[in-house]
Amino acid sequence: MKSLVCVGAQWGDEGKGKLVDILAENAHVVVRFQGGNNAGHTLVVDGVQTILHLVPSGILHENTTCAIGNGVVVDPEVLVQEVEMLQARGKLDDMSRLVVSPMCHVIMPWHKRLDAAREQASGSHKIGTTRRGIGPTYEDKAARRGIRMYEFIQPQRLTERIRTGVMMANSMLEALGDEPYLGVEIEEMIQRCHKLGEEIAPLLGDVGELIVQIGESGGRVLFEGAQGALLDVDHGTYPYVTSSNCAAAQAALGSGVGPAWASEVLGVTKAYTTRVGEGPFPSELHTAVGEQLRELGGEFGATTGRPRRCGWLDLVALRHAIRINGVTQLAVTKLDVLSKLSEYQVCEAYELPDGTRIDRFPYDPLVLEQVKPVLKAFVGMDDLPSTLNKFEDLPGSAQSFVAYLQEQLGVPVTIISVGPQRGEELILDAALVPNHQSVAVATARGAQA
Ligand code: GDP
Ligand code: IMO
Ligand code: MG
Repeated sequence: MKSLVCVGAQWGDEGKGKLVDILAENAHVVVRFQGGNNAGHTLVVDGVQTILHLVPSGILHENTTCAIGNGVVVDPEVLVQEVEMLQARGKLDDMSRLVVSPMCHVIMPWHKRLDAAREQASGSHKIGTTRRGIGPTYEDKAARRGIRMYEFIQPQRLTERIRTGVMMANSMLEALGDEPYLGVEIEEMIQRCHKLGEEIAPLLGDVGELIVQIGESGGRVLFEGAQGALLDVDHGTYPYVTSSNCAAAQAALGSGVGPAWASEVLGVTKAYTTRVGEGPFPSELHTAVGEQLRELGGEFGATTGRPRRCGWLDLVALRHAIRINGVTQLAVTKLDVLSKLSEYQVCEAYELPDGTRIDRFPYDPLVLEQVKPVLKAFVGMDDLPSTLNKFEDLPGSAQSFVAYLQEQLGVPVTIISVGPQRGEELILDAALVPNHQSVAVATARGAQA
């Protein structure tokens, strides 16, 4: 398999980080292609937890290069902190393993302040963003006034861009009733950004070129999605979404290669559903079982620490995710958590207020808020072993659940995860099993136009 795109098939936090870490052993480059540090991807290796927000989840494998593609919005503070954290742990001694596209848009301090100010001003209509400045940065990108990485590393150019950017941000902040940036604060921002620019400059390189070179040398490319299908700005539960396209097609656009690179797609889903932030969630549980899932699954955001809303697996939403992503195979995570319930349910369809049953995912949030889930009940599974070598190692009740999902969804389940640690999973497709052979690739460095 030359390339594989790993994407979230729900509202994020499906366990993409864990899976990318496992699959990265088989990949020569891991590429982030959208979102920013609104993502929180958790890896657990030998009992040590690493949470990554920006650096791709292949970084713990010393033979794997990690690239941040042009579709990602980068907060330079966070990038530098994450690099320092990895270096302090001895996980990033060779800096040539990390490449950042010069075309990435930069999250500036005012984007974060605007994100928070807007949420504050929206009251009960807020989106529940991560307040990391993601939305305002993508807005500036679309409005063609954003600052890209190649500008961020040029002090004089950056100074001018900051002065104009602050002026525009100030008028918006004042309209929102927030404090504008003034004299000393602006000069300090400029100095701080110059320093960050110096630190980041050596990381810049042509990500699209790197991918093509690796592919031509017989290497494998793993694309790491952030967020999930239902947070996609076009196909998700708009307006309660993030500001980027999270679907697999974005892997190509967000890293500078053609769509053929995004044809093999691994959709990741939990065995139940969670969501952080506001917005419709038809199979949400407002009962003690929802609390139980949150406790058993440790469902608290990896980025903001907010409690995640919990509910049953939603097949209507999953079918939608499979279509918009072109999912060719599924990974089911947290089966261990679901197996701890004495009984569980799955949402097979929705019912509209007039009693009509639908199995299509509505695009209008007002409709989605009114639907009731049509649920199928199951008796709980038997205990799962944490070490699995073959499908038959799963108890019959868990095997039947996986067979039911494949039949309902029409795609094969190729990975079953039963714990947060690397190794607590079963890989059913031999093509995904780690088999790393090195390929020689010269990292295409430089921020030249
Ligand atoms: P991501 O954003 O998709 O990478 O997912 P997060 O890291 O935000 O959230 C997933 C959480 O579930 C993390 O705490 C993982 O360590 C944990 N996790 C992943 N897979 C499993 C699993 O199969 N079982 C259990 N119990 N936890 C898991
Ligand atoms: P990973 O990659 C879960 C949600 C926020 C909010 C909405 C918009 O870890 O799966 P934003 O800050 O992006 O403008 O917020 O999107 N959100 C996520 N939820 N996992 C994520 O990333 C998320 N990234 C953003 O909670 O509802
Ligand atoms: Mg997460």
